[in-house]
Amino acid sequence: MNIARNFLVTGVLYLLIGLVMGMYMGGSGDRSLTPVHAHINLLGFTLMVLFSVIYKVFPQMTGSGLAQLHFWLFQIGTLLLLVALFLMLGGFVPEATIGPVMSVTELIVLVSILIFSWNAYRHAV
Ligand code: HEM
Repeated sequence: MNIARNFLVTGVLYLLIGLVMGMYMGGSGDRSLTPVHAHINLLGFTLMVLFSVIYKVFPQMTGSGLAQLHFWLFQIGTLLLLVALFLMLGGFVPEATIGPVMSVTELIVLVSILIFSWNAYRHAV
């Protein structure tokens, strides 16, 4: 599995979604989902492309299973977090219902970042 390439491809996909959403927001004047747009672009695009570059610069970080664990947990956590944020801010699901789900998605993202941090500490030399 080519972690750097996979992060780049998924990051660019999120960028396309974020840009189209931003264009819709600009055109319609509807700013209710601005935080979703911001998180698609920042978690989805900016961070994933940054991870891609870091794995390219430090290929020794891809040697263990840590990078794959980081990749999959970050993908799952980010996708679920964005969907939950969309459902909450779009008014589709009450905050009281989606709140606990949000906490789980945030935890998944946090664990993936902890794994990334440990991997960087151990292998990025
Ligand atoms: C075609 C490209 C884009 C368009 C048309 C667009 C459009 C918008 C619009 C209309 C807003 C709401 C502004 C407001 O309510 O005052 C916004 C907010 C935001 N956008 Fe974008 N955007 C684009 C690309 C991006 C990219 C690439 C990023 C980050 C990598 C980004 C990050 C943000 C952030 C963080 C906010 C929240 C700003 C705030 O609330 O102060 N956007 N964008």
